Amino acid sequence: MKIGIDKIGFFTPHIYVDMNKLAVARNVEPEKFTIGIGQSQMAVAPITQDSITLAANAALKILDDEDREKIDYVIFGSESGIDHSKSGAVYVHQLLGLNPNARAIEVKQACYAATAGIQMAKGHIVLNPESKVLVLGSDIARYGLDTSGESTQGAGAVAMVISANPRILELENHNVYLTNDIMDFWRPIYSDKAFVDGKFSNEQYIAFFNKVWTAYQEKSGFDLNEMEAICFHLPYTKMGLKALRTVLDDTTEEVRERLLNHYTTSTTYNRNVGNIYTGSLYLSLLSLLEQSEDLKDGSRIGMFSYGSGAVGEFFSGILQPNYRNHLNMKDHKQLFDSRKEVLIEEYEHIFKETLPADGSDIELDIMKDPASICLAGITDHKRQYVNKHS
Ligand code: HMG
Repeated sequence: MKIGIDKIGFFTPHIYVDMNKLAVARNVEPEKFTIGIGQSQMAVAPITQDSITLAANAALKILDDEDREKIDYVIFGSESGIDHSKSGAVYVHQLLGLNPNARAIEVKQACYAATAGIQMAKGHIVLNPESKVLVLGSDIARYGLDTSGESTQGAGAVAMVISANPRILELENHNVYLTNDIMDFWRPIYSDKAFVDGKFSNEQYIAFFNKVWTAYQEKSGFDLNEMEAICFHLPYTKMGLKALRTVLDDTTEEVRERLLNHYTTSTTYNRNVGNIYTGSLYLSLLSLLEQSEDLKDGSRIGMFSYGSGAVGEFFSGILQPNYRNHLNMKDHKQLFDSRKEVLIEEYEHIFKETLPADGSDIELDIMKDPASICLAGITDHKRQYVNKHS
C-alpha cells in the first residue's frame, strides 16, 4: 500500500520585516543577512496569532468535507505550544470542525516533531487504510531583539493530510534516524525565547546530516544520483546549503548542478518567511513542488529533518502522477502577495507586545489581523479563538 502526503497547505502571518532594513537597524552589513544567512524577509506574528491559529489557518484551505469526516487522528507538532497539559491538536480539531471520533495529540522534539508526526501517521494508516491523518507543524521562532539569533526568527505553519494512495508524495520506507543528547538549542519552560549555542548548532546539524545520509545510502542502496532533489530543515536558507555542499564532491557535475538548482527553488518560500521550526522542512518541500517547473512525476525527493537537542532523520518520497494538480499554488501566491511590510520600530513594538503572564484577562483587536482564525483574547485563563468566517 502506498502511504504519503495527499494534501499540503501553508500559512504565515500577514506582516514581515525586510532583512536589509533589519541589518541597517542592527548595524551589520545587509549582505550578512541576505547572503551569509540567506534570508530576505522575516514573518512577524501579531499578538492575535499563536501556534494554534497558525496551524488551523494552514489546514483551513486544504480540507474538504470528506477529509473532515475521514480524519481520525490529529497530530500537532510544535515547540511553541500554549499549554503544558492540553494538546494544541484538540483546539485545532474543534476550530476545523473535524469528526469527533478522532485522536488528537501534541508531539514535541524541537523542529523534528512534524516528522515524528508523519511517521506515526504512516503506522496508523497501515492499520487503518481508510483513515486520514492531519499532521501539523506550527511555530513562532523567537530569539529576542538584537540577539545573534534574531535574523533567524519567523512564524508559520504547514498542514498535511497523510493517507493511503496519496496524490502528492508517496513516502518510502528506508528512513534512518539518530538521537544524541546535546545542548545546541533549547527553551526552558520559564522562557518565551530560545537559548542557543549558534556555532555548535550549525556543526551538529551538519554532523547529523552526514551520519543519517551515509546510513540511508547503505540501507536504501540509493546515492545522490537517485535523488532528484533534497529538501532540508531550514533554520535559515544558508544552513541546508552548507550541509548539501559537504556531500557534493561524491557525485558528477551534472548531478551537482541539478541538486543545487533544486536546492535554490526549495528555499524560495523559507527565504521570505524565516524559521518556522517544525514546519520548515515541509515549507521547503512545498516551495520546491510549487516553484519548480521541471520536476517530473516519479522523481525521488530526499528529506533531511533536524530538531535540536537533537534528533535527525533522512527519508525519501516519490512524486505521484500529476501531483501539481493537487497543490494550492494560487492560495499560497495570494498569501505571499497580500503580506505587508512593517518597519523595524513597529516590529519591535509587536515583538514586545506579549500576552499577560500573571493570569489576567485580555481582549485583543482581531480586526487588524486579516487571518480567518485568530486569538481574540484570554478569559478565566482560557484562550478565546474565533473563526471570523464561520
Ligand atoms: P552570527 O554570529 O550572527 O553570524 O550567527 P556569523 O558571524 O556566523 O555569520 C553568518 C554568516 O554570514 C557567515 O557565513 C559569515 O561569513 C557571513 P558562513 O561562514 O557561516 O558560511 N557573513 C557575510 N556574508 C556576506 N557578506 C557579509 C557577511 N558578513 C558575515 N558582509 C547563527 C549566525 C546562524 C549562528 C545565529 O543566527 C543563530 O544562532 N541562529 C539560531 C540557531 C540556528 O539557526 N542554528 C541552525 C542549526 S540548529 C537547527 O536548525 C535547529 C533549530 O531550527 C531549532 C530547533 O530544532 O527547534 C534552530
